[in-house]
Amino acid sequence: MKNDELLKLAKEAREKAYAPYSNFKVGAALETKSGKIYTGANVENSSFGLSMCAERIAIFKAVVDGETNFEKMVVVADTKDVVSPCGACRQVMSEFGNFEVILANMSGKIKKTDVNALLPGAFDLRRDVD
Ligand code: THU
Repeated sequence: MKNDELLKLAKEAREKAYAPYSNFKVGAALETKSGKIYTGANVENSSFGLSMCAERIAIFKAVVDGETNFEKMVVVADTKDVVSPCGACRQVMSEFGNFEVILANMSGKIKKTDVNALLPGAFDLRRDVD
């Protein structure tokens, strides 16, 4: 899928964010290598620490649908510069190898990067422990 189509899906997902505490809505759209699309939006909770980011929701939806090979992900939020995924999401992305990550904001700014660039030296139990 083209990046602008995936961005449109991420923006649509962002509208579904449940963010009454931060009022900061984030949308994500993940394309698998098999061509499936999984979207995510952040879901917050009164117990703030239980809130879940858009990126992880999209990834977890894909994983429980049997998809673990990812082509690319778009993340979008209403930030000045492009949105910057949190450290936890970067670690969760890295579990599934290196794939393209397209960061965007609502004003049309876009930055293309990838998981390795977002989290150099990620911990990997499969690699780092005998
Ligand atoms: N959030 C995301 O969903 N993704 C990001 O990349 C940054 C942060 C959410 C978590 C929380 O619901 C809100 O944005 C404010 O931190």
